[in-house]
Amino acid sequence: MDMGVFIPIGNNGWLISKSSPQYMPSFDLNRVIVQKAEGYGLDFALSMVKLRGFGGETEFWDHNLESFTLMSALAAVTSKIKLFASTAILTLPPAIVARMASTIDSVAPGRFGINIVTGWAPNEYTQMGVWPGDDYFGYRYEYASEYVQVMKDLWSEGTSDFKGKHFTMEDCKLSPKPSSPIEIVAAGQSGTGMAFSSNYADYSFVLGSGINTPTAFATTAARLSEAAAETGRDVGAYVLFMIIADETDEAARAKWDSYREGADMEALSYMGVQGAADATAGEESTAKAINLPEGAVNFNMGTIVGSYATVARMLDEAAAVPGVKGIMMTFDDFVEGIDAFGQHIQPLMACRKDIAIAAE
Ligand SMILES: Cc1cc2nc3c(=O)[nH]c(=O)nc-3n(C[C@H](O)[C@H](O)[C@H](O)COP(=O)(O)O)c2cc1C
Repeated sequence: MDMGVFIPIGNNGWLISKSSPQYMPSFDLNRVIVQKAEGYGLDFALSMVKLRGFGGETEFWDHNLESFTLMSALAAVTSKIKLFASTAILTLPPAIVARMASTIDSVAPGRFGINIVTGWAPNEYTQMGVWPGDDYFGYRYEYASEYVQVMKDLWSEGTSDFKGKHFTMEDCKLSPKPSSPIEIVAAGQSGTGMAFSSNYADYSFVLGSGINTPTAFATTAARLSEAAAETGRDVGAYVLFMIIADETDEAARAKWDSYREGADMEALSYMGVQGAADATAGEESTAKAINLPEGAVNFNMGTIVGSYATVARMLDEAAAVPGVKGIMMTFDDFVEGIDAFGQHIQPLMACRKDIAIAAE
């Protein structure tokens, strides 16, 4: 069972609240988090790409670092943990991203992978003139498929002559090639998103929502397994949880209640409008799930609130769902949160006991 951390590359992490910890993203903050994560035996860290924030009193995600340059720097100050950067595929040509990956692989051989982001918030792209129009929602995974094929050609052969609808390579070269395959992760929840993951990804995120409902994602994981059965590829489900932990259930619940009460409604309503832009979104898609201003202070992310023992028990329950290969966590305070995980929660988890002992 892999454990990972979704590092706070944007301000305030994933809590859209005036009463949660308020902080800016920096290399130093993320270095501390990832080095601690490595020390506790976590398997991976992933940074998202976000190019425009939601505003509001908390200036939510108006402050964001860039994913590849951050991960390259983190690669240089770590030695074991896997690192995933995110490419917003409308902004970076695949041959450049393939080369960035082989560069980071030379910093951290065998430890680098890429999260493929098709994009759900048009304003991130219209602001820089690269949004192809809302029709893109209908063909974004076809675009992503060609994008990944180009990168895979370059990584495996060092050359690509790919001719597709969206990308045309002309004896395109890449050298040096990465030392080992660059792993691909994706996070589409829609049918087309899962079909894409089944064809091209090594891991795909599956989401469930709710507070202390650690197996709510199981139906989505089953959909991923079905999609992967069609391609015959091994695509591991990674689950995402926000962890709000403290010494007692009551103390953790008090923190969670205060974050909810402090919801930044202005930022949340901006997110709702952007999330509604995709007219093709089905009920299961992320765009629909986040279009919920009320109560979406945590992005409607599955959240575990409780004592260290409660959190450990629920993470074990999630890990036992068929198809699950890993869990990625966010925290209210990432530095305290990762310490609490490493020192108090992981040692209580049946599926991480050996790793907890090795990390002592
Ligand atoms: C773990 C995780 C990471 C994601 N990273 C990003 C990201 O970096 N940038 C972004 O714009 N969207 C990100 N997303 C959104 C997905 O890439 C995708 O656009 C979303 O799930 C909608 O796809 P769907 O319509 O197939 O459900 C992420 C989602 C998850 C669950």
